[in-house]
Amino acid sequence: MLKKVTVDDLDLKSKRVLVRVDFNVPIKDGIISDNTRILAALKTIKKLIESGAKIILCSHLGKPKGFDENFSLEPVAHELEKLLDRKVFFSHDKNVVGDETKKFLGELKDGEILLLENTRFRAEETKNLDDFSRELGELADIFVNDAFGSAHRVHCSTVGITKFVKQTAIGYLIEKEIKFLGEAVNNPKRPLIAILGGAKVSDKIKVIENLLGKVDKLIIGGGMAFTFLKAKGFNVGKSLLEEDKIDYARDMLNKAGDKIILPVDIVIAKEFKNDSEYETVPCNKILDDWMGLDIGKETCDLFINNLKDVQTVIWNGPMGVFEFDSFARGTLVIAQAIADLNIISVIGGGDSVAAINKLKLADKMTHISTGGGASLEFLEGKELPGIAAIANK
Ligand code: 3PG
Repeated sequence: MLKKVTVDDLDLKSKRVLVRVDFNVPIKDGIISDNTRILAALKTIKKLIESGAKIILCSHLGKPKGFDENFSLEPVAHELEKLLDRKVFFSHDKNVVGDETKKFLGELKDGEILLLENTRFRAEETKNLDDFSRELGELADIFVNDAFGSAHRVHCSTVGITKFVKQTAIGYLIEKEIKFLGEAVNNPKRPLIAILGGAKVSDKIKVIENLLGKVDKLIIGGGMAFTFLKAKGFNVGKSLLEEDKIDYARDMLNKAGDKIILPVDIVIAKEFKNDSEYETVPCNKILDDWMGLDIGKETCDLFINNLKDVQTVIWNGPMGVFEFDSFARGTLVIAQAIADLNIISVIGGGDSVAAINKLKLADKMTHISTGGGASLEFLEGKELPGIAAIANK
């Protein structure tokens, strides 16, 4: 992989440095329920403070269609102030770059921080149109991309802006994500095992294809396992099934030999709800009118046994319907098993991360990615455009 210019390579003193961060955090009624992504951005921000840069932060939040005060980044400015214990100026400019932003910028001193409004208040942002990219670029001498979670997006604030600034660099978060995800996939300590879960095979086809060539074993759980079980000839009842992916799954099973490990027993339920009647059955005994909502105990044991001798594990996606407590067990057991092993563990995907946080195991993992879609695209072997657009060393 090409080495990118980082914030350590540039003279930042008194420079206006625009940092694209990913502050797309859950906010309800002005309250941030999970500040992980803000915490993850602090290292780069602190470096810029210490270096005496004039810091301009920008991010998107949610998917607003133009200005919508429910998607304002103002609560993030307050959270950032608390975390950094210093003033964070916030520009209310509905156009992101306007008179208020320019006024703040004119008065910004070395080491001070200005947060701009949600970049998606501008319709041009997601279309990567030059006029907004130029406006953003003209605010700064240097552009730093540290928004790993948005690095798969070709937007003004992630890619377009790079045409309109003199210097570009990645921040520490992107550097860390590339290091851990990159090493786990491309230069792992072996044996390497990947555990993939989640609802759909179609979401993970490219990940499966890329990883099959690299891993020693691939465990498949979650809703996507039923398409593979069907491909093996099992009845899956009313479980999640992608009919049009059965041939693909069969093909993968033929190609992969015994590399792919599937569930052997399933927790099946009558209805898709937390308090449904349920029972655990072998995977060849799924009843017609029932649906599989979690992996069974034997499957947990099988997966854990396969984890025993590995050196590196990549995990993305839940083993069952994690949002229902009754069907979260498989996901939680796998999270605990990974934590108990002293191995390199790289975790991505909202529900896998939520399972780890629920069990308070985050500090037992080597790396928890801040990227959902971005970490999946990375696992697909794609070069992320927001990283590709940054200058090489
Ligand atoms: C994410 O939450 O995955 C990133 O912030 C990207 O958000 P998006 O899917 O709205 O582009």
